[in-house]
Amino acid sequence: MSIDQADSRRKFLQFLAASPLFAGNSVLAEALLPKARLPDPLTWAALDPNNLIKTPKEAINVFDFEPVMRQNVPPAHFGYMASGIDDEVTLRANREGFLKFQLRPRRLVDVSKVDMSVDFLGIKFDSPIIIAPTGGHKAYHVDGETGVARAAKSGDHLQILSTQSTTAVEDVMATRGKPLWFQLYATNKFAVAAHHVKRAEQAGCHAVAVTVDRSGGRNQETLFRLRPSDSRNCSGCHDRSSLAADQRHKPIYDGVDLSGLSNIQSSAMNWDFIKRLRDTTKMKMVLKGILAWEDAVLAADAGIDAIIVSNHGARSEDSGRSSIDALPEIVEAVKGRMPIFVDSGFRRGTDIVKALAMGATGVCIGRPYLWGLGAFGQPGVERVMELLRIELRGAMQQVGAPSIKDLKAAMVRRA
Ligand code: GLV
Repeated sequence: MSIDQADSRRKFLQFLAASPLFAGNSVLAEALLPKARLPDPLTWAALDPNNLIKTPKEAINVFDFEPVMRQNVPPAHFGYMASGIDDEVTLRANREGFLKFQLRPRRLVDVSKVDMSVDFLGIKFDSPIIIAPTGGHKAYHVDGETGVARAAKSGDHLQILSTQSTTAVEDVMATRGKPLWFQLYATNKFAVAAHHVKRAEQAGCHAVAVTVDRSGGRNQETLFRLRPSDSRNCSGCHDRSSLAADQRHKPIYDGVDLSGLSNIQSSAMNWDFIKRLRDTTKMKMVLKGILAWEDAVLAADAGIDAIIVSNHGARSEDSGRSSIDALPEIVEAVKGRMPIFVDSGFRRGTDIVKALAMGATGVCIGRPYLWGLGAFGQPGVERVMELLRIELRGAMQQVGAPSIKDLKAAMVRRA
């Protein structure tokens, strides 16, 4: 808007506010005044909190599910899912990070057929979109992990099952019907880690994804602020008398000697631990939570099969750096020695295309499918994953890539 336009707009507003019609209400006058510039379309068609979707089919993007989940799921459970830590600067950065990268589309490429299929450590999937490990699915919907497994099956997605699963790994495997990866919280006891890994292997899991980024405590402020408004009696599912007692509700801990368990994560974990764990299993070993190129190189040197570049959905540290920002230095340092997966903040097909073009092999999705689960159970998860596949296909066509291998580094530039 020019200075002249701004001046006449101000005068007109003063005039309107002075009129009996608006009774001195310049805010109302401002709202009714025609805008000199085209509006941001988002303000014309913003998500309306009073008119949320009632069925998964109505959703036009993954964000439509989050407020429905907020309505349906107890505040403590929703708060646990939504929480980042401290000021949640990493949580915001994970979304804003994608704006640092822009797409450079190529034209006149036949994209009438799009092949999104991939090979993850020797197993084929129809798309590079992966169900990230997240804990406690039954806290969001009775369909739980098996509902998620059915959705993974219908879209042929790799599913990574969390240690904190509320359903036994054997049952999830049987439902999914294709090898899962098992995410490991190693704990402070090697025997517990070895037990979990052996059980996952016997259940038919293909890989163990060892979480390496939960070495300290964390301040989940969103959770702590929402939890007091939850008036339910939680003792049926949570036993706060001790850490070990609380784990009894997690099927992977069945029959495990929990004496001396002081930490679910692993403050003392180091490279020796990883090498020792590697010797206990024939499964592929993946490290989840790598953010610095130096660690990625150490992982490749240690013969690790793959890494997941991740800041744990902004739940492991409040560095302010997005995981998409960390990806390029890691791709450059690894030089193709192992596949690199990535997660944290992915919500759009274009987010996924950017990561794949920059060198990622697959992209894990976390909160969005939990929004779908909490909102509608299994059909919600199915729709979230379907929307992501539709967006990914469209984004591949927009940049001129008929297959995943056609997504090239030159299709992305730093803004
Ligand atoms: C689990 O991975 C969590 O961050 O709570």
